[in-house]
Amino acid sequence: MTCPHAAAGSVRTYPFGDRVDLELDPAYAELRAGDPVARVRMPYGGEAWLLTRHADIKKASADPRLSMHAGADRDVPRAAPRGLDSVGLMGMPPESHARLRRLVSRAFTARRVAELRPRITEITHGLIDGLIAEGGPADLVQRLALPLPTAVICEMLGIPNEDRHVFRAFTEALMSSSRYTEQEVAEAAEQYADYLRGYVAERRAHPQDDLLSALIEAHDEGEQLSGNELLMLVGGMLIGGHETTAGQLAGHVALLLRDRSRYEELRARPELVPTAVEELLRVVPLWASVGPTRIATEDVEIGGVTIRAGEAVVYSLASANRDESVFENAGDVVLDRTHNPHIAFGQGPHYCLGAPLARAELQCALEALVTRLPGLRLAVPADELAWHEGMLVRGPVELPVTW
Ligand code: HEM
Repeated sequence: MTCPHAAAGSVRTYPFGDRVDLELDPAYAELRAGDPVARVRMPYGGEAWLLTRHADIKKASADPRLSMHAGADRDVPRAAPRGLDSVGLMGMPPESHARLRRLVSRAFTARRVAELRPRITEITHGLIDGLIAEGGPADLVQRLALPLPTAVICEMLGIPNEDRHVFRAFTEALMSSSRYTEQEVAEAAEQYADYLRGYVAERRAHPQDDLLSALIEAHDEGEQLSGNELLMLVGGMLIGGHETTAGQLAGHVALLLRDRSRYEELRARPELVPTAVEELLRVVPLWASVGPTRIATEDVEIGGVTIRAGEAVVYSLASANRDESVFENAGDVVLDRTHNPHIAFGQGPHYCLGAPLARAELQCALEALVTRLPGLRLAVPADELAWHEGMLVRGPVELPVTW
């Protein structure tokens, strides 16, 4: 596919390099400076516009004419063989999206999450008790980063935490970009739906005080959501509610321990944890490359470039979060940064539903680590950490630590 209005030779091959750790390829900074709405050849499906500046991405994310749904389940230009559009809310048509978001957003408000906080703290401390009892070294991915958000989202939804090994396997397949074949992913999606149907049937027979029961009631009584939508919602929240936070938490701790003076700073001033979490969200990239593709449903002007109806647009949130025109000393990690309008949770209609929950989990985890494990350090050199490859979100495979 060629683009009629891209100057010859200006199409770049994407992604730039293959970094999936804490770093971003320098090409993003070059694009922000000189070609912020860049024409790129995506690894799958042809060409797209890549946005790299904070202002452009904020504007584009809030523009309903750039539609995730229009690219869902279609062979549009994208960073991975398949996208996130088949998981959860993201790829739903705008009317259903708004209706379903309203239905579940009550469970994720700042107030509701504040009520959950004592329980999040209790789970966190329980995990740290386990670490202390067994002694180091230990893998912080398996011992904290993964089990904490998993236990919390399981309790909220009403899925037994003991099932984590079962739905972890589905998560890995559904959040993979290239690690599994199309066939394997399709099979995993089918099995995941069957697995969830089992709980829907069980909870319908025995309702409890959980989100799954509330959604079943909404389905059965108000017809506010279809059976398929129910599965998509619950399935998306179970996966989205633990995989992203786990990758971020492990990445945050890796960044703090890579240069231990950062961990020391937090240890000495734990009151900085909330601002430190925002800074870590800003600098630790979420996606391996870019998130879901949007398709222009009509001509849209972004950053002085006209995106024609039907064209694909992708955003680098990580690049936006390092935009020098927005963040002072954007390349530095400033744990007490006060002006920090990062967009790690996105923006606009798809703004992360779980942001208050993720923040609470990340804050509880860091607070507990710096107060209870003051001597925490990496048990291997930072450059020997292995990072997930072939997955949509970043994160270390293991985070060996001692204390
Ligand atoms: C640190 C952890 C997390 C990060 C960085 C994160 C980031 C994001 C981002 C960037 C988006 C928007 C994607 C886009 O517009 O292209 C998003 C959407 C979403 N997130 Fe999160 N997320 C996190 C944790 C969570 C948690 C704990 C939940 C809990 C259920 C969650 C549920 C969702 C849902 C349901 C959406 C789709 C919203 C919609 O389409 O309306 N996320 N997240």
